[in-house]
Amino acid sequence: MARGAGEDNPAQRGCLREREPWALTLLAWGPARRGRSIRSRILPCNILDGDRRLRDVEHNKNRSPLTEEIGAAVREERQMHSRKKSTFAAVVVLMLLTVIWIAGCGDKQAELPPTPNENGANVSGENQGTPENGSNAEGSDQTGTDDGDQAEAPNDAGEEEPTSDGATGQEPGQDGAGDVSGNTGNDAGPDQAAAADPQSVAVLINKQLALPEDYEPKDLVYPDVRFTFKEKIEKRMMRKEAAAALEELFAGAEKDGIYLAGVSAYRSHKTQTALFNRYVAKDGEELAKTYSAVPGHSEHETGLAIDVSGSDGKCAAESCFGDTKEAAWLADHAVDYGFIIRYPEGKESITGYKYEPWHLRYVGKEISTDIGEHDITLEEYYEAVPVSGQP
Ligand code: DAL
Ligand code: ZN
Ligand code: ZN
Repeated sequence: MARGAGEDNPAQRGCLREREPWALTLLAWGPARRGRSIRSRILPCNILDGDRRLRDVEHNKNRSPLTEEIGAAVREERQMHSRKKSTFAAVVVLMLLTVIWIAGCGDKQAELPPTPNENGANVSGENQGTPENGSNAEGSDQTGTDDGDQAEAPNDAGEEEPTSDGATGQEPGQDGAGDVSGNTGNDAGPDQAAAADPQSVAVLINKQLALPEDYEPKDLVYPDVRFTFKEKIEKRMMRKEAAAALEELFAGAEKDGIYLAGVSAYRSHKTQTALFNRYVAKDGEELAKTYSAVPGHSEHETGLAIDVSGSDGKCAAESCFGDTKEAAWLADHAVDYGFIIRYPEGKESITGYKYEPWHLRYVGKEISTDIGEHDITLEEYYEAVPVSGQP
């Protein structure tokens, strides 16, 4: 068969030179060029040459050992080429799958529901420089005391609460924080409805999530337990279910020879406002926020939280309480009665508050047991993100 001069030039023939496997795909998928078969565009030149030689061999009636040899060589070359093609195709498919998978992950990310944290830019930063790294370690007995601090000790029980309203102008729900009665946008995880329902004993209140502005618990009672003061005043009250559980907890502790006393339980919005303002005046806002909740964001306003101490009232709401046998008993047994240590040691970046071994929060036995078993915070239980820093 006569061949035109141009056919010896691979570029003009359209076939591929050796070591151009990438071009296989491009050419195979590219627009057909007039006058050239797909086959001639996707096969390397040496194979096309071989084809021609094979055809010559096959059409040659007088086959010689030489022509047979040429035939075998051509067939082998074609097999090798087809193996190369398969490998290349597999690589291309793998790359495509990877690209699709990565694109899929990106989509998922974009679809995630907004987390409570999106209100506040500072997730984990603000708590750096907290008592844990020494900036205020010992001062914490004074500055780091809880809401029920020395001022709330038995002796000044009647006078400790500031009387001025001292409004900060920061109202719950107006500070960029989520309002539990509103939509937090997070509907994943366990009992999310309960977490957002201020009436629920499982409600999640923290630096991000505030109570409704006018919230007042409706079923406050005086639990029949020892307190560090005698007066029947606001901070002695708790919601009915929590109060009953507290009575059981105190009784259970006594069976183990542990004598507890309540220090500070319910606080109205007005009281929390006055208390918080007092701490801000004393320590500055940034430090105050590491141990006292902005009004509207305190669990004490729910009637579900209580600060406790030993019956002697020593170390009441002070960091030295952590070293007492009462604190050890609470750490071991509070969950059996439906309470959790709400602000545990080592979880400051999640809760946003310094360790408070005295602050018990009633959540009900089911949740407290789960939290105890998994050694997690209420934020983690609800799969909420770290909340430190805001507000
Ligand atoms: N001490 C806790 C954080 C409160 O003020 O509610
Ligand atoms: Zn407290
Ligand atoms: Zn669980």
